[in-house]
Amino acid sequence: MSGSPILLAMVEESLRGMEALGEGLSGHQIIKVSEQPPDKVFHGIRYAMVWKPDRQLFSRLPDLEVLFSVGAGVDHIFRAEFVPDVPIVRFIDHTLTTRMSEWVCLQCLMHLRQQRSYDARQQQRDWHEYTQPQASEITVGITGLGVLGQDAARKLKTLGFDVIGWSRTEKNIEGLETFSQAGLDAFLERTDFLVGLLPLTKETTGIFNRDVFSKLRRNGEIASPVFINAGRGGSQVEADIIACLEDGTLGGISLDVFETEPLPADSPLWGFENAILTPHVAAVSDMGAFGRYVARQIDRYVSGQPLENVVDRSLGY
Ligand code: NDP
Ligand code: OXD
Repeated sequence: MSGSPILLAMVEESLRGMEALGEGLSGHQIIKVSEQPPDKVFHGIRYAMVWKPDRQLFSRLPDLEVLFSVGAGVDHIFRAEFVPDVPIVRFIDHTLTTRMSEWVCLQCLMHLRQQRSYDARQQQRDWHEYTQPQASEITVGITGLGVLGQDAARKLKTLGFDVIGWSRTEKNIEGLETFSQAGLDAFLERTDFLVGLLPLTKETTGIFNRDVFSKLRRNGEIASPVFINAGRGGSQVEADIIACLEDGTLGGISLDVFETEPLPADSPLWGFENAILTPHVAAVSDMGAFGRYVARQIDRYVSGQPLENVVDRSLGY
């Protein structure tokens, strides 16, 4: 092996296709933190790949030069007690983007076609037809117009939905009506299905709350709006979601992310008929693709080219 050793620190190491990671990084030795003594200082290690690392890990990496997030999100890194002043590269790859768009399109179609209501009727052996709006009569409002939000927007438009988007800075995206931060209320008033694809930062913590849900459109083709979130659970106020489902402010939800993961068994969220819950699997990283991505970034770094997809620390994403 000629390449530098790379430290791997992630929860669920055994779950996430470690063989494929090794193949992608075949020129490098992978050192798993979980197999090392707990207080070991990793002298000479220049690269680390992390997912929800131990909060003290980085103080044991005095020679670190580049940090790789095993996912697209990096909030798990900023939870550490000390984050070294090195570039943080997040994972962007078509395998991840495609999976996320599949999940978002699936959820929008499930709610458009009232699949949960038909599931309930099926259980009762009840042949019953609901009035069916068309996709073009439903406005999907996507919060977060980054890599994932823009791809989901394109694919939802292909399915015929009316799609609008909201992001921190102004955008000019062909074929998509967009709103920047000041336009939040105008964006919500138009939205039937609210989609969360935001990173978790100070600004986005708790952003999906009753105030936001109560501003969604309710004079359109569906009686009550729907909330769909695959960004981060810390952006949603689950007590508000539960209360809004109970009083009809929300007509349905699809959640892949939660305030606490795994979602506790006693959460009322599990019990709603029109709630579709998945266990943070909307876009699981493909470890083979991730390994090849890290190898490519290291090649760029050692040959003096700029690293790609480096996180802006001041923004936190
Ligand atoms: P990007 O960084 O490419 O995009 C983030 C978007 O959010 C940008 O459009 C940004 O605005 C917008 N944004 C950030 N802060 C605010 C704010 N305060 N107000 C309004 N808009 C804001 O991220 P990705 O699209 O790659 O990923 C988004 C998130 O999806 C990840 O951070 C992660 O949390 C989550 N994710 C979840 C997965 C899952 O399996 N559930 C898998 C992968 C990712 P601007 O463009 O103006 O900067
Ligand atoms: C990610 C995730 O950020 O899987 O990639 O949540």
